[in-house]
Amino acid sequence: MLTTRPRGTADILPGQTENWQYIENVAARVCREYGYREIRTPIFEHTELFIRGVGESTDIVEKEMYTFRDRGERSITLRPEGTASVVRAYLEDKLHAGPQPVKTYYIGPMFRYDRPQAGRLRQFHQFGIEVFGAQQPAADAEVMALAMDFYGRLGLDDLELHINSLGCPECRAVVREKLQQYFQPVLNELCTNCQDRFTRNPLRILDCKASRCAELAREAPTTADCLCPDCRAHFEKVRQHMQDLGIPYILDKRLVRGLDYYTHTAFEIMAPGIGAQSSIGGGGRYNGLVEACGGPPTPGIGFALGLERILLALEQRGKLPDIKVGPVVFLAAIGDRAIREGFSLLARLRAAGIAADMDYQGRSLKAQMKYAGKMGVRYAVIIGENELQKGSVVLRDMIAGSQREISKDEAIRALHS
Ligand code: HAM
Repeated sequence: MLTTRPRGTADILPGQTENWQYIENVAARVCREYGYREIRTPIFEHTELFIRGVGESTDIVEKEMYTFRDRGERSITLRPEGTASVVRAYLEDKLHAGPQPVKTYYIGPMFRYDRPQAGRLRQFHQFGIEVFGAQQPAADAEVMALAMDFYGRLGLDDLELHINSLGCPECRAVVREKLQQYFQPVLNELCTNCQDRFTRNPLRILDCKASRCAELAREAPTTADCLCPDCRAHFEKVRQHMQDLGIPYILDKRLVRGLDYYTHTAFEIMAPGIGAQSSIGGGGRYNGLVEACGGPPTPGIGFALGLERILLALEQRGKLPDIKVGPVVFLAAIGDRAIREGFSLLARLRAAGIAADMDYQGRSLKAQMKYAGKMGVRYAVIIGENELQKGSVVLRDMIAGSQREISKDEAIRALHS
């Protein structure tokens, strides 16, 4: 146990963290360009927030939350997603009192007690955005455009954007009734899960992976067929904007999301070929959520993208950049005095912004040079007895295999350029 991490978690090691930083930097840059600012909320919240926010009848709330009582007997939950927390912060920190819309983004770990497999973890990471106070269809298009722009900048240009409209609560009531009428005669053919969904949340039957349910759902009524005129017009405009931006999408009338808060536009982004967990991002509008959490009626929209799945897609397509990290210079010194001189020179190199390292194991010069080679440094700066006498160093180009004796100042200048 002491040397095993909990199932569904991962260590992100040196050599991998560089890829994460690369993705996070691209996310931050895209967000800045679109006018989104970072928000950081706690990793845990009061359980009630997610029950209210995500929805009582969702798989997340019913089966997947990490919930515990703290020492003060409060029910606490590790956040399974970011939207509910950002809504809470929007209200608690009175962001609604400032200029609207409020455009935020976040990157961080989320927790779901799901069955681990490739691309599905119990602690995973999302890059998400949330916008409050923007009801126009162009905001829906901007959110989807930002996601696709982000993927595009990473070199993921073969993704599928699926979009649908789930309508407003009135449209939902209509489709709910139609779905119940449709499934009533075949109720006992549905899986036990869907039999339960039939009364609680019949829309989710459309999303069931069980073969008989999927077969029966094929001809079922969809939200898109039940939209009221306003919702239909909104969705039409969203689609026009997407067309104007030249962003291809697939109209997927059977798309329903696993969280209860969605209204109007809902979307999911699929990466073919990364396995069963091909959804690398999803989001949509949630115009009722702020109010449901006790705030003023406020339109909201956003997405979250799974970073582990993005990494899988990048790896699989050979799109990860070759990021060179580690020291550029290795300082090799022999003998106590040379080590003292070397250690001071190391500090000067670092102060000049040159990534440099030296030996801390008392290795021989030969062993130090071998280590420098293994570390893949470009240059070695060598201080031996001879250089110590003359106050010079040997600067060795590890690739060319050439070297010259120069002063310390010259070495710093040469390495700086
Ligand atoms: P979601 O669809 O539950 O939406 O999650 C978004 C993305 O997170 C998924 O498409 C997937 O890439 C990743 N993801 C989810 N669960 C796991 C897991 N167990 N392991 C690895 N990756 C996972 C939400 O979370 C909403 N909050 C999105 C949103 C924001 N909607 C509006 N604003």
